[in-house]
Amino acid sequence: MTQDELKQAVARAAIEHVPAGIIGVGTGSTANYFIDELAKIKGRIDGAVASSEATAQRLKSHGIPVLDLNSAGELAVYVDGADEITKHMHMIKGGGGALTREKIVAACSKKFVCIADGSKLVGMLGNFPLPVEVVPMAQSYVARELVKLGGQPMLRQGFTTDNGNIILDVHGLKIMNPVELETQINQITGVVTNGLFARRPADVLLLGTSEGVRTLQ
Ligand code: A5P
Repeated sequence: MTQDELKQAVARAAIEHVPAGIIGVGTGSTANYFIDELAKIKGRIDGAVASSEATAQRLKSHGIPVLDLNSAGELAVYVDGADEITKHMHMIKGGGGALTREKIVAACSKKFVCIADGSKLVGMLGNFPLPVEVVPMAQSYVARELVKLGGQPMLRQGFTTDNGNIILDVHGLKIMNPVELETQINQITGVVTNGLFARRPADVLLLGTSEGVRTLQ
């Protein structure tokens, strides 16, 4: 199976986790496949909260109502992909740059269902550069602080987040303690969010493999 077929398979499997009501929807190529599957059962839900402008556009293009998080209250489920995930359900996210809104919608959701092809499951996080969203005027200061933590930050060229900020992609981290590093990076003044999802890990992982979709929880 191709990587795209594995992503489609987990997107289909995630539909079983969709209750009636309002759900949260992530960002990225795997989340896009999920939106396409969601469109087939859109009569069962009241609408979706989007984690990015791109996801909002795709939901709307399928006729799925996009709702405001502040009016939606607590969501039963959030479905999203990951750039890396461990068996402890800690993730790196933000390859698509939507990490802040993803983390907000995930925080408002009772259950986080991560959908990923098998290549995303890793023993230790950090091979994928860790995205950090930063207020533009703090770029140099935050970069210096990230170097002190052992990383090599690189500005994501020509990219602005949906919130008007920049992204520093931090290379060379070997993340032994994701919960601690998530907290440490969040404490740097000027950081909006970092792409470690360890304090709020996934609850369920639907992993696409050539033998079928594995469920880890
Ligand atoms: C978006 O900002 C990211 O967090 C994505 O969820 C993550 O990068 C996974 O993307 P793919 O499904 O495209 O691999």
